[in-house]
Amino acid sequence: MASFLSVVLVILILAILFKLYIKLSVKRNGSYVCLTGKTAVITGANSGLGYITALDFAKRGARVILGCRNGDKAEEAVKKIIAATNNKNIVYKLVDCASLKSVRNFAQDIIENEARLDILVNNAGISSDEEGLTPDGIQTILQVNHISGFLLTHLLIDKLKKSTPSRIIMVASPTARFANLNLNTLRDLNTATLSRRFYAMYYNSKLCNIAFAIEMAKRLDGSGVTINAVHPGVATTEIVRDAKLWVKFGFNIFTSLFLYTAEEGAQTQIYASVANEIVNINGGFFGNCNRIEVYKTAKDS
Ligand SMILES: NC(=O)c1ccc[n+]([C@@H]2O[C@H](COP(=O)([O-])OP(=O)(O)OC[C@H]3O[C@@H](n4cnc5c(N)ncnc54)[C@H](OP(=O)(O)O)[C@@H]3O)[C@@H](O)[C@H]2O)c1
Repeated sequence: MASFLSVVLVILILAILFKLYIKLSVKRNGSYVCLTGKTAVITGANSGLGYITALDFAKRGARVILGCRNGDKAEEAVKKIIAATNNKNIVYKLVDCASLKSVRNFAQDIIENEARLDILVNNAGISSDEEGLTPDGIQTILQVNHISGFLLTHLLIDKLKKSTPSRIIMVASPTARFANLNLNTLRDLNTATLSRRFYAMYYNSKLCNIAFAIEMAKRLDGSGVTINAVHPGVATTEIVRDAKLWVKFGFNIFTSLFLYTAEEGAQTQIYASVANEIVNINGGFFGNCNRIEVYKTAKDS
């Protein structure tokens, strides 16, 4: 009995030390940059990291466009942000990142109706272990997490180029390091026949975010538009809402006890979007408000 209690005590102490380490090491974006006169688009901004990012940009005075798939949730988020910041220049526009047509319509609306675009945060994402294709015939997780942002970036690039210096942020994940992305798995992803590894499609989609930022940065060199990828660590959000019950339960317990809050997790994408000292960094990868080494998996062009 005594040895059992000692083991429990050691585990408890280690858990407390781990939590202390996480909380003391989390960096906050300390930038006081004002965004008055700037316009930002954030996809998936009605909850989690996207919502916190929209709230932060609103506090800085930006015109913020929340790209959301659900009108009710989006309206609720817009109301909350306006009430919290008194910035009335906050709107939502509908976009379903699982539909190429919807992304095209969303982009067209911005091209036609917005005077400028200074910040584009490709944040919308889903995480589940389910297979399935969108009506476009693309694996759903890949399309929502990557292809939609890839397409949106290309459609909005002229607007971004007219508003330089402007920034594109791809919200990736530390799990990209577990990706197994090659032409075969990519083809399999598209036909939903991937020989399944736990959450393989999610990891691959997040690796695509980083690989895309690196390649697109080369193509944008000298244009005044930069693109960087970030990872938020692991934060308590609704990202596992579609996951199996045990994954949801485990993730939520673990993140809320030991890892980041949504507010902490969003700091890096806010930093990459606004910090003056990194205005010229293009093709970088950021974590915990620092530039970090790109994972080996993302270095193979
Ligand atoms: N939380 C983490 O630990 C973590 C770690 C690494 C990376 N990330 C990344 O961070 C990003 C934000 O996720 P989060 O953690 O903040 O999760 P979240 O709270 O679930 O937010 C995801 C957002 O994406 C939206 N979305 C999902 N499918 C969409 C679609 N088809 N069209 C348009 N919007 C859609 C959701 O809208 P609905 O409310 O309508 O579903 C929601 O607003 C994701 O790219 C995720 O992969 C998160």
